[in-house]
Amino acid sequence: MVLHESISHVPSGFKALGSPSPTQEIELFIAIVQSNITGLAKVVDSVSFPSSPSYGQYLTPAEVAEYVKPPAESLSAVMDWVTPNVTSVKPFSPAGDILQISLTVEQAEGLFNTKFSTYTHSADGQEMIRALNYSLPSTVQQHILHIHPIIAFTPPPRRPSQNTVSKRTTTLNRRQLAPCEDIVRPVCIQQFYGIPNTTISGSLTNSIGVQGYNSASLGEYANEDDLATFLNEFRPDIAGNTFSVTLLNGAQNLQDNSGGLEGQIDIQYTVGVAGNVPTTYVLDESNSDAAISYMDTINWLLSQEDPPTVFTTSYANEETDLTQSAATSVCNGYMQLAAVGISMIFSSGDGGASDNQQGCTSFVPMFPSTCPYVTSVGGTFFQPPTAFVSSAGGFSNYFSVPSYQAADTVAYLESIGDEYSGMYNPNGRGFPDVAAEWEVFIVNEGGVTSVGGTSCASPIFASFIALVNDRLIAAGKPVLGFLNPLLYSTGKGGLDDVTTGQSSGCSGSTGGWNSATGWDPVSGLGTPDFAGMMNALGI
Ligand SMILES: *[C@@H]1O[C@H](CO)[C@@H](O)[C@H](O)[C@H]1NC(C)=O
Ligand SMILES: *[C@@H]1O[C@H](CO)[C@@H](O)[C@H](O)[C@H]1NC(C)=O
Ligand SMILES: *[C@@H]1O[C@H](CO)[C@@H](O)[C@H](O)[C@H]1NC(C)=O
Ligand SMILES: *[C@@H]1O[C@H](CO)[C@@H](O)[C@H](O)[C@H]1NC(C)=O
Repeated sequence: MVLHESISHVPSGFKALGSPSPTQEIELFIAIVQSNITGLAKVVDSVSFPSSPSYGQYLTPAEVAEYVKPPAESLSAVMDWVTPNVTSVKPFSPAGDILQISLTVEQAEGLFNTKFSTYTHSADGQEMIRALNYSLPSTVQQHILHIHPIIAFTPPPRRPSQNTVSKRTTTLNRRQLAPCEDIVRPVCIQQFYGIPNTTISGSLTNSIGVQGYNSASLGEYANEDDLATFLNEFRPDIAGNTFSVTLLNGAQNLQDNSGGLEGQIDIQYTVGVAGNVPTTYVLDESNSDAAISYMDTINWLLSQEDPPTVFTTSYANEETDLTQSAATSVCNGYMQLAAVGISMIFSSGDGGASDNQQGCTSFVPMFPSTCPYVTSVGGTFFQPPTAFVSSAGGFSNYFSVPSYQAADTVAYLESIGDEYSGMYNPNGRGFPDVAAEWEVFIVNEGGVTSVGGTSCASPIFASFIALVNDRLIAAGKPVLGFLNPLLYSTGKGGLDDVTTGQSSGCSGSTGGWNSATGWDPVSGLGTPDFAGMMNALGI
């Protein structure tokens, strides 16, 4: 047996309760080596860089599966080893590169030569059966990337923290006539960014997917009546539009107003901004950790015949919530979606440079935003255009800077000299990529209320891209797919740079990153400019 992965100590906040019962069943995920992931990365570059001759020539999920399916000898080596010693084994990902196994603690301790303990988290009492290390037979090790979550103490996906803030619950008379300074609503978003009212292509396959997660600590629903009220009030021209629902793992989209605000924001600022773009709320009953929750959606998207062309997620985790090996597997999943031509859009988070930690000695990057194959959206205020103090951003400690971005991140880092040196990884992938309005009004439980956070920015940016895609389809061109190689090159003309404002950092509301001319880790490259993007795309 060869030691494969280990951690030196249990993450802070967790306490060992003792040994679990040897007959207790647990679930684990085996990531097997993939046939040709470096080849797939090259393919993604060739379909995503506007200068490439195969720009926009996306692969089918079946073609992508050829790159990531395990080599036959790897699959059989792993199957021969685990099958006799587990209760069940089945493919988790469509290509079969990730297997889901169910087995007893005793079986797992034998297979992986380790000792499990039950751990509890002091903040929420969540219990996890984990070990500090695991080993693999030397004959099998070369076929396995990692096994999750033996040593991973990963919490579920988190909502960005600010969106529960009802900053202002004004019930102004004649709300539709109120200035945008008082009530940011879809018409304001349309005006700030020049976003048109509705689609013109008539395409039904150009659609937006909207992520929702439910778990013990997180009930999120998108309410149909609240959306109807919202559209009647703020988008009477598309009143009556609605959304479809996809339920994963037994989720239910409850309509009893027992949820939080996230699902409401995400649906109202997609259906309500991307006029007439078909919208699907993908709700996952996620009782697992964030790595598995993010994978659930990747697997769902890869198994759709006509997946949404744009997908927005307003949930995030600290990068270290995931082990580097699990984060890499998830990010390789986003690489597969890039190859298929899906724009994956994530809110950057609401904790500034430090995820709201004060007195820290290093900044805290957020995942999935740090994955180079997604587009991360920070928050700004529109009047005057200023970065939002809580807009999360910074540099990855797991993923190195991708080529499409390197000139921009280097220019920013040169401009700040040695400020914050040692608090971040100067060679890491920088985020966010772009930004959008962070504070809007929604309808919740029948009432109009203001909410804030990058939770608002991600669906707004996704709606902008969905309507750009609509114009591309009308012009007979492919949709944008993975956005970043475009955004950091010719697509800069489709964004308005935001140059003022600062994010919070380890010393509170000061001490984070400064917004600046060009890319910066608060507002990215800037906010949507629809006419500019039409120009940049030549339509
Ligand atoms: C991996 O994929 C690349 C890009 O398609 C291809 O050029 C290369 O031949 C592939 N390698 C193998 C071993 O299949
Ligand atoms: C796995 O199962 C085989 C066949 O039943 C058995 O001989 C072997 O001891 C088991 N290995 C472990 C590590 O439990
Ligand atoms: C593996 O973890 C156990 C505690 O569960 C510890 O006693 C042992 O020293 C660790 N081994 C290695 C190689 O880290
Ligand atoms: C958008 O819709 C509003 C309300 O129906 C209308 O007043 C406005 O002219 C429309 N704008 C465009 C650009 O079509």
